[in-house]
Amino acid sequence: MLRVGVMVSGGGTNLQAILDAVDKGQISNAVIAVVISNNPGAYALERARNHGIDAVAMSPKSYETREAFNEAFLAKVDAYELDLIVLAGFLVTIPEAMTKKYQGRIINIHPSLIPSFCGVGYYGLKVHEAALARGVKVTGATVHYVDSGMDTGPIILQKAVEVREGDTPERLQRRVMEEAEWVILPKAINMIANAKVREVQE
Ligand code: GAR
Repeated sequence: MLRVGVMVSGGGTNLQAILDAVDKGQISNAVIAVVISNNPGAYALERARNHGIDAVAMSPKSYETREAFNEAFLAKVDAYELDLIVLAGFLVTIPEAMTKKYQGRIINIHPSLIPSFCGVGYYGLKVHEAALARGVKVTGATVHYVDSGMDTGPIILQKAVEVREGDTPERLQRRVMEEAEWVILPKAINMIANAKVREVQE
């Protein structure tokens, strides 16, 4: 059984997609051991509790220094003995000590077709605002491994989504979630749990 920890900052619709996929058997050989958020008010924590999953809030603001937070964060993750860390809308930079220690065991969902609209400053709605401003006709989502860069790790899965006439950033964000994110994130976890992406991990 792959022990999975999901890191979240907000609403947690991707977390919900993962929980639903586990319930439906679309993700097998995996258990969600913990959900951790930097935001104590994140609705995602509620979703975890409703599922009987440990929900942990750890805000960098509660620590005197960033280093102190990073250390506590790594210790918490270590304590759960996780095989896979899933960043599902987690807006905190992963400490380098963690990307090193968990190399090949951290994945992230990003709401664009990397390498478009990614990197520093591209998160959440900003990604879709940028895509619409550039006038792309196709966007989508990407699941990738996390390395020490920002959205630079090896790509596991991508799914394209059509941009439509009259799209607003909010509408596009919703369609990218429904058609791409909630599909490829659970799928990637299932692939990893069943060792179908071994070649990418090494
Ligand atoms: C998702 O769209 C995710 O792709 C994005 O944040 C949203 C979280 O929504 N992540 C990033 O932009 C990371 N750079 P959710 O809390 O409802 O899953």
